[in-house]
Amino acid sequence: MDRYAHIIGWGMAAPSQVLTNEDLSRRVDTSDEWIISRTGIRERRIAAEDETTASLAVEAALSALDPTPLNPHDLDLIIVATSSPEHIFPATACIVQDRIGAVKAGAFDLSAACTGFIYALNLAAQAIRTGSIDNALVIGSETLSRFVNWEDRSTSILFGDGAGAFVLQGSDEPGGIYSCIMRSDGSGEALLTLPAGGSKLPASPLTVEKNLHTIRMNGREVFRFATRVMASSTREAAEKAGWEMTQVDLVIPHQANLRIIEAAARNLRMPMDRFVVNLDRYGNTSTASIPIAVCEALEQGRIQDGSRLVFVGFGAGLTWGALALEWVEPRVRIPPLRRRQRALLRFLASVRSFLRRIIRRIEGLIWGTSAQGKRRD
Ligand code: UT7
Repeated sequence: MDRYAHIIGWGMAAPSQVLTNEDLSRRVDTSDEWIISRTGIRERRIAAEDETTASLAVEAALSALDPTPLNPHDLDLIIVATSSPEHIFPATACIVQDRIGAVKAGAFDLSAACTGFIYALNLAAQAIRTGSIDNALVIGSETLSRFVNWEDRSTSILFGDGAGAFVLQGSDEPGGIYSCIMRSDGSGEALLTLPAGGSKLPASPLTVEKNLHTIRMNGREVFRFATRVMASSTREAAEKAGWEMTQVDLVIPHQANLRIIEAAARNLRMPMDRFVVNLDRYGNTSTASIPIAVCEALEQGRIQDGSRLVFVGFGAGLTWGALALEWVEPRVRIPPLRRRQRALLRFLASVRSFLRRIIRRIEGLIWGTSAQGKRRD
């Protein structure tokens, strides 16, 4: 019997702090008029000091799990797609696993820049469709504001922070994720990059002095590449799913620049009302942009049972990709009252995490290593 991967839960998290174009024009030589006409962005959300990529991911994950019949311990896999991970290692996904109490889940991060959410969704869906796992949590989470050079007007106007999450479950009912294309071209590595902090250029006084820990981008080149691949990959994913473009109800594109989305719509000969656009309020939230746009489209009733959707994205790498799915309205939703049990589970997850840290410390004392891995004298 064929197996399908359905999205049964979705959620998002957006920091409350808003940075408008006016605010930016007080920092760098730009204007509200320039930013709107060249990008379509009006404002973006910026993480507060106590908000991180993991904390936003946890918030989105819990709100995605909330209405589903699943508890965190039912999850088999957690993937966090991110370009602004909590650390180089451990993976942000492991921090999410611990915070939500997903005790049986494998967890890893996926780095494919803004295309990361599409890649991650496809990998989780494949694992479900082969029967290897039943339930997965896929998150796109970013705090790119921490890596922006606030004196660079060509990048500081674009990015925003946020997270979006989907819960996927296996089903025998046709629908869900049907096809995906994943592409890359590393010859464009220099076009959009965060040069230092990796193994090639570890942090040093020089990298800090030269501001190499912030985003560098050749905007024009990335723009040209994006307009080239958005339409072709949308078409390819739809074809692979066996659909004509006229059968696609809604395209949910990566929210980078309104002009890029408009160019894709023109190339596909589709009206703009079949594209979801919310970049005016969030800017480019990289891996989080597609799931946040899906959450808002669902809230606005633009996605219904049976809707045929294509997600399409591009980003640093270079990477690009598109994924076609048929929306299946979740058959089981949990009433708000039962969700109270979840609050208890969340509390138990934090107790469990605390106890495990204590036990590890005690074991370290007994066996002669401290929690930091140093030998005891
Ligand atoms: O997830 C992927 C992330 N990256 C992207 O999606 C980036 C794709 N690229 C873009 O969105 C656009 O290239 C930008 C929005 C970054 C720039 O728009 P553009 O229409 O390609 O502008 P440009 O780079 O060709 O620059 C045109 C002019 C330049 O001045 P000169 O050389 O013509 O005198 C820039 O210096 O606009 C200037 N400029 C600005 N002026 C006011 C660049 N940024 C700004 C700014 N405010 N913020």
